[in-house]
Amino acid sequence: MSETNGYQPASTTQFGAPAGSDRNSLSVGSNGPLLLHDVHLVETLASFNRERVPERNPHAKGAGAFGTFETTEDVSRFTKAALFQQGAKTDMLARFSTVAGEQGSPDTWRDVRGFSLKFYTTEGNYDLVGNNTPVFFLRDPMKFPHFIRSQKRLPASGVRDNNMQWDFWTQNPESAHQVTYVMGQRGLPKSWRHMNGYGSHTYMWVNAAGEKFWVKYHFHTEQGMEFLSNEEAERLAGSDAEYHRRDLFDSIKAGDFPSWTLSVQVMPYEDAKTYRFNPFDLTKVWPHADYPLIKVGTMTLNRNPENFFAEIEQAAFAPSNTVPGIGVSPDKMLLGRVFAYADAQRARIGTNYQQLPVNKPIVPVKSYTFDGNMTFEHSGDAPVYAPNSYDRPWSDETGRVDDGWEADGEMVRSAYALHAEDDDFGQPGTLVREVFDDAQRDQLVETVSGSLLGGVEGVVLQNAFRYWKAVDQSIGERIELAYYAAKGDPQVGMDNELVEETVSTR
Ligand code: HEM
Repeated sequence: MSETNGYQPASTTQFGAPAGSDRNSLSVGSNGPLLLHDVHLVETLASFNRERVPERNPHAKGAGAFGTFETTEDVSRFTKAALFQQGAKTDMLARFSTVAGEQGSPDTWRDVRGFSLKFYTTEGNYDLVGNNTPVFFLRDPMKFPHFIRSQKRLPASGVRDNNMQWDFWTQNPESAHQVTYVMGQRGLPKSWRHMNGYGSHTYMWVNAAGEKFWVKYHFHTEQGMEFLSNEEAERLAGSDAEYHRRDLFDSIKAGDFPSWTLSVQVMPYEDAKTYRFNPFDLTKVWPHADYPLIKVGTMTLNRNPENFFAEIEQAAFAPSNTVPGIGVSPDKMLLGRVFAYADAQRARIGTNYQQLPVNKPIVPVKSYTFDGNMTFEHSGDAPVYAPNSYDRPWSDETGRVDDGWEADGEMVRSAYALHAEDDDFGQPGTLVREVFDDAQRDQLVETVSGSLLGGVEGVVLQNAFRYWKAVDQSIGERIELAYYAAKGDPQVGMDNELVEETVSTR
């Protein structure tokens, strides 16, 4: 045992006793074998073996910061949620990420960016786990694991593969809208501070009178949207993998706090049945002309984590975390996600991950779920069952839930019933023709043809040309021309047939 001479030891074992040495292990003589009863060495090595929790699958690479959300407007006619009452200020956490790259992958690979928010509200935690685009690649959760695998790595070589990515996208034409966003400027934001965030799904809001509305969330960056060019992003991917992480941390450290304005689109409950697009289809936007933006408030990030592992790696965001006045919707993707996240987090972080400071609500937890690995918070010797005769309260609502909707019919495996203007290529076509300008269209042609040149071949290549001609005939032809011109190949125009079936039944 070491001599502390009345001073606190410089470092200790995990149980508080003096650590001996952090430099020299215990050996028999200077050159001798090591001793198993060197508790500090054993603890140091064993603990090191367990230092990481598994990385998220997907969205493994990211970082975040804490801040405040302030509701500046009166939206009480749409929701009774405490955090969205005018004047409410709510502490929050944000995490931004790439989707496909693993921990350590470059921040500037072309990809969608995650935009995860956790609000520590007076009614429990509310999480909004969105992206920097208003739509997604898919509309059925059954396809999600297949999608992520196609964006990650080949089974044999372990390398990423453009052919696999384009095969998945072209086999699933509902991806076209999101792929158009990702192949456009949004795929390369200059920094996380310079991108918008979207809830993407349609959610439900319920007001104090019980009236229900469908809403979409839009967080517009007050720093302005800015983007990287393909060349800049590629250079940074090689020279500074942590470019976006560092930017956020350094800005906040310097007192330059990024902020976003939250607005919502609100659809009256009854409109959903007859709206020209299925409002629960995650591959679609609601044009602002149909449902204009209504301002709600401002989110400002003003505090860096003290410890990346404890507060960001172990942060658990889940679409299942809702509060009174906010509900989910019949969006099948959202319903799948309501299961997936908490389940992933029990496995990734541990059964009681919700007890960690970063995940813990600011309100008392009075749950009847118990025990499990690493239980820290507990309910003493209070009854562990409900109902009970000993005054421990339990919940007992019955009847209609206030954030529900009506559903009826046979159990089927089926795509959504189509609304009047539902198809896979209409909205991405509008995005290319009416939202992108000439420079953005030129960039799209360059980016897509460059991606196809990166190993896309045979039937997948031909399907990719068809896919883009279905989005927009002229863009598709330009992509095909650019591809063959770069190849120096005379095959250009070999397959110029328009895809006639543009309405997916999937
Ligand atoms: C059925 C479809 C989906 C499934 C099953 C799914 C599943 C998952 C899982 C398992 C994680 C890792 C969670 C963790 O370990 O903490 C994750 C992370 C994430 N997902 Fe999804 N996801 C789906 C669709 C989406 C969509 C549509 C969006 C955006 C609109 C999205 C945004 C994110 C974000 C931002 C993260 C990172 C969360 C964080 O910052 O910790 N996902 N997803």
